[in-house]
Amino acid sequence: MNDKRNFSRRNFIGISGVASAGLAFSSSPLIAQSVVNGDSNSGKKYKIGIVGCGNRSKNIIGALNSVPEIEISALCDIVEHKMGLRAALIKNGHKPRFYTDMHQMFKQDDLDAIAVITPNYTHREYVIAALEAGKHVFCEKPMALTVADCNLMIDAVKRTHKSLQIGTQRRHSSDYKMLVENIRTKINGKILYSDLFDYRGDWRAPEADEYPAGVGYWRLDQSKSGGVVYEMGAHIIDVNNWIFDSEPVSVSSIQGINNLSLRKRDSMDHAGVLVRYANDALMNYGSNVYNYGAAAADTFFGVNGSVQMGSGQISIKYGNPKGVAQQGLVIPKPELISLPGGNPEGEGVIQELKHFALVLAGKEKAYPDGYIARQTVQICEASVRSAKERREIDVKELG
Ligand SMILES: NC(=O)c1ccc[n+]([C@@H]2O[C@H](COP(=O)([O-])OP(=O)(O)OC[C@H]3O[C@@H](n4cnc5c(N)ncnc54)[C@H](O)[C@@H]3O)[C@@H](O)[C@H]2O)c1
Repeated sequence: MNDKRNFSRRNFIGISGVASAGLAFSSSPLIAQSVVNGDSNSGKKYKIGIVGCGNRSKNIIGALNSVPEIEISALCDIVEHKMGLRAALIKNGHKPRFYTDMHQMFKQDDLDAIAVITPNYTHREYVIAALEAGKHVFCEKPMALTVADCNLMIDAVKRTHKSLQIGTQRRHSSDYKMLVENIRTKINGKILYSDLFDYRGDWRAPEADEYPAGVGYWRLDQSKSGGVVYEMGAHIIDVNNWIFDSEPVSVSSIQGINNLSLRKRDSMDHAGVLVRYANDALMNYGSNVYNYGAAAADTFFGVNGSVQMGSGQISIKYGNPKGVAQQGLVIPKPELISLPGGNPEGEGVIQELKHFALVLAGKEKAYPDGYIARQTVQICEASVRSAKERREIDVKELG
């Protein structure tokens, strides 16, 4: 079978198979196993080189300070002064080597892995180059801008026998694991529909010395970032794929640029996205990066109840109301479950990198891997094409 179309692959560690067709979330937890504490690889240290010392690298380096199994041995950025700034964040006193050319860094023989933390449009090229240089790779979300690029990256993983893990930290965060576990174990029957959104202010305005002269901010360029669905939506869409446990089939979307008063851009600043999955469940995602909305809450509606996550808690409404409150129906009080708290994104980043350490030790498989991350790119790419061509897109059209 052609692996490029094998979207149902379920061979990653810690994920037990559940028939997608029924989505009957009975007792199967379907939770990724990250290592929370303890000796994950018998004291061996793995050396990593980071390409891209921009804003995101601060979080990655901060998280790696809590992952003693991985040592940051090299940094690379085309803007030299950023490497010094990031090296100063490394807490174990280790001094990484600096490179302005990633290919020179990839030649560093003692490097076990590369973290690609560069703009979205570079991921395909840089990841494949790192794999070809014999390194395992951690790459920030989104995996790439197109399904075709994801396929090339998956081919490179197969060719090189190296691992590729995509940085979608919610897969490893305690809060999101709790969400998935509650949906799986407490709501009997199929999840039919989800209502998800991101509303926030515009993207960070970079400092004047962050990019080489004449290079604009990639997030404002649609061809380099993919716009709001790739940049914001990739996170909750990935969670939705995890929860629905089914392949996206078709996508309809309207997107545009509403607030031209913010900054000059051609990247989409708002979107509405509807996705039909193979099991007939429907995802409804909305977002904008020009203004704040109501408190973010994501809701998953099932045949026999609904689960909402937001404001630091999970709220579960059981049952299947056959009427409305005004007609005398007693609406049961929801079960409220506090989330572990803290910073779910930050904790998830530490856990995803601890998981990556186990991948380097050969004890775990990359999670999420390219096959899983490609599903999100299918939705992102199809959404942009749908908005442009004003029609529903079958994801098979994307290759
Ligand atoms: N997982 C998350 O929550 C999360 C959050 C923020 C960003 N991201 C992702 O991280 C990636 C980077 O985002 P960012 O906010 O750090 O962007 P950024 O613009 O702040 O940083 C990107 C850096 O890459 C460098 N770079 C570009 N080309 C290079 C090359 N050829 N060699 C070396 N360095 C190069 C740039 O000089 C810049 O310093 C994006 O893919 C973004 O989507 C993920």
